[in-house]
Amino acid sequence: MVPPKAIYVGPFVHCKTQLELDICEGGAIGVDETGKISFIERGTRVTGESAAKKHGWESFEVVCLRDQGFFFPGFIDTHIHASQYPNAGIFGKSTLLDWLNTYTFPLESSLSDLARARYVYNRVISRTLSHGTTTAAYYATIHVPSTNLLADICQTKGQRAFIGRVCMNSTMSPESYRDESTEQAISATRESIAYIQSIDPKHELVTPIITPRFAPSCTADCLEQLGALHKETGYPCQTHIAENKNEIKLVEKLFPEAKNYADVYDNVGLLTEKMILAHAVHLTEEEVALVKERKAKISHCPTSNTALTSGCAKVRNLLATGIDVGLGTDVSGGFSPSILEVARHAVWVSRYVAMIDGDDAKLSPEEVLYLATRGGAKVVGLPDQIGGFEVGMDWDAQMISLRTVPEDGEAQDEHEGPIDVFGWESWEDKLHKWLYSGDDRNTVAVWVKGRLVHQTSGYRP
Ligand code: GUN
Ligand code: FE
Repeated sequence: MVPPKAIYVGPFVHCKTQLELDICEGGAIGVDETGKISFIERGTRVTGESAAKKHGWESFEVVCLRDQGFFFPGFIDTHIHASQYPNAGIFGKSTLLDWLNTYTFPLESSLSDLARARYVYNRVISRTLSHGTTTAAYYATIHVPSTNLLADICQTKGQRAFIGRVCMNSTMSPESYRDESTEQAISATRESIAYIQSIDPKHELVTPIITPRFAPSCTADCLEQLGALHKETGYPCQTHIAENKNEIKLVEKLFPEAKNYADVYDNVGLLTEKMILAHAVHLTEEEVALVKERKAKISHCPTSNTALTSGCAKVRNLLATGIDVGLGTDVSGGFSPSILEVARHAVWVSRYVAMIDGDDAKLSPEEVLYLATRGGAKVVGLPDQIGGFEVGMDWDAQMISLRTVPEDGEAQDEHEGPIDVFGWESWEDKLHKWLYSGDDRNTVAVWVKGRLVHQTSGYRP
């Protein structure tokens, strides 16, 4: 289904740099039938018709933003376990290693059942789309058919995604939920890659991603072969690193010849510019320097790091080093599927760091919105395609209404959301209020590559 040309009219906001938003109080963005931004006109008096005339467009749809609101780039979730969605909010007082055994492996193991996988994956994709996530880097499970089903559902629902069949062949995982051998882990990974290539040969929407779960769940031999597969295919990779102190001790025991945790991945050719490292809470200075040198990316997961009491990642240090950082919900280590909420938690965690290390550690609202969009785009390797509004980029966007949609039978003014009640707020105020008090009710419509993939019932753009 090819969407028609469309012109989006209204205020739009995106990140210009890590520190600065580009706020355009009125304008029109023309999106062609391939879903790419063809022109951007600025000015509060610009209409769909005036912009179309200027660009010689004859047939097109106009999507106008009514009420208070703005268009914003779609969010990029750089780390999420689709398979763990039913456990979001269930973690008790556990920490990483007991959490994996108590809650996570049993749930993931149960997704060998395709009907169950279908149920879970349909829901997680719909839910993340409803929160404005237009791109996600997903971990599925070890099962090839259900991993492939995740790719199918992303394609059907229109979410851009990286789909990882999880590799875990070491005896750290229970016998009932692990790869039998290195050979089996590699052939299953190849099988899933081939399937995703068959349904989306140009990877317009779905791309395979090589996914060793983390060093402790893979043998050295398996990691080595995954490194070779990465080199052979050029596909991106994702894994976990330095999330929890006991995990780090385990890595030291299992890989005594490695200099440190990052070195385990580097030794096998997995630490490259196409690697997404989740968490990175306890990296040493030496490891940070190596990650920077290899241009590997980091997914910051503040919700999960607090829930599992893993620690507070020092994001300011990572950014100051020049490492590309994005945000990850890490469902279900993290309990929220919303990147807006994770962005808020990123501000919060940075303040806890600042209470000890000083004010420089604080991340601003502008910075976390950058991490949620442009930063995430760099992390998933698509900085010129998504994360902002520029001519030539894809229209991956969300329409934010600051007046939330009332429930049935509820008057509008009982349900105002983060609206500017007295009309005296600056645009910065509006953005900050959305970040701190907005939610999915404000995300009234979502597009990926120009295709409408979500809209709030009751709100017609
Ligand atoms: N480390 C290894 N597996 C996982 C996982 O599923 N979630 C998190 N947060 N950390 C991990
Ligand atoms: Fe994770």
